[in-house]
Amino acid sequence: MKKLFITMVALLLSLMALTACAPAKATVSIGIVLPTRDEPRWIQDEARFKDALKDSGYSVEILFSQGSTATELANVETLLAKGIKVLIITAQDGDAAGAAVEKAKSEGVTVIAYDRLITNTTAVDYYVTFDSIAVGAAQAQFLVDKATGTGNPLYLYAGAASDNNAFLFFEGAWKVLQPKVADGTFVIKNSSKAVELQGTLALSRAQMSEILGQVTTNWDFNTAKNLAESHLTAATAADKGNVFILAPNDGTARAIADAFAADTAVTSYLVTGQDAEKASVQYIIDGKQSMTVFKDVRTLVSDAIKMAVDVLDGKTPTTTGAYNNGKKDVPAKQTNVVVVHKDNVRAALIDSGYYQAGDFTFPN
Ligand code: BGC
Repeated sequence: MKKLFITMVALLLSLMALTACAPAKATVSIGIVLPTRDEPRWIQDEARFKDALKDSGYSVEILFSQGSTATELANVETLLAKGIKVLIITAQDGDAAGAAVEKAKSEGVTVIAYDRLITNTTAVDYYVTFDSIAVGAAQAQFLVDKATGTGNPLYLYAGAASDNNAFLFFEGAWKVLQPKVADGTFVIKNSSKAVELQGTLALSRAQMSEILGQVTTNWDFNTAKNLAESHLTAATAADKGNVFILAPNDGTARAIADAFAADTAVTSYLVTGQDAEKASVQYIIDGKQSMTVFKDVRTLVSDAIKMAVDVLDGKTPTTTGAYNNGKKDVPAKQTNVVVVHKDNVRAALIDSGYYQAGDFTFPN
């Protein structure tokens, strides 16, 4: 009896020791870092991630960087301390995010760049993205299809130069617009650099940077509004009339549209966008924004999760191509986009179940 008791105590003690020595179990297996809560686009992504992960059984934490690379790094460190194995991250600034993902990589974490490529580092394993060149091309094509005659005033706006996507959107748009500037259909009104380069179809990154330097909204609504207002102040009445506006996304489109709508010398305007944000869907219904490019976030979310789960299961994720980030070809999975305008807004976004009809006010 005594012997049995001693054996049991010994067993218990060794069990306790074993538990103490075991490596801390990960409390979170997938960490997600998104750029900002201030733009509805990223709130959409958060909601869709939550929906998709609800019953997955994986422990996930989502943190926002609020436009700050320092916060982004702190978020990654927080998630690393919780033992994540996979990091899904939308960089605030493509180059500056290198430090954060290199840290994750050095701790054996798999890094998935989500929507925005992280540039000039080898510490990115995978990239899930929409076809961003196609986004810009669709915006430009919409304007081209609506333009008749010659001399139509064209105003160009772009995203933040710290975001690789801003270059892809602009590149896609420029390839469609440039021939129509060259043949006189459009006249660029708000960028001397773009005018200087209007004879060149394929712009280098450095040339695009010069144009972006003049027309960047920095993805910020106030910057976009102020920029549009200053362009309108500088323009003559002859530069206005029926205007065509390339706006890079929905948030900036609404800000720019409001500025143009308030100018009495603007007779009509067409303005592009992207993201199918609810506020812009309402603007489209009301005729205040001309189109948006719908990027079905559910697909991007499910691709990212599938990749993460494959990694956790020790499998190699499926990819469909690669993007060079300046240091390596990052294996990527790409998703197509859909053009939405007044005539198909209901079918594309409501009948499809993406949004509810009750989210919007329709004219009687
Ligand atoms: C995204 C867009 C978004 C923009 C501003 C881009 O990288 O692809 O969907 O509107 O950032 O946040």
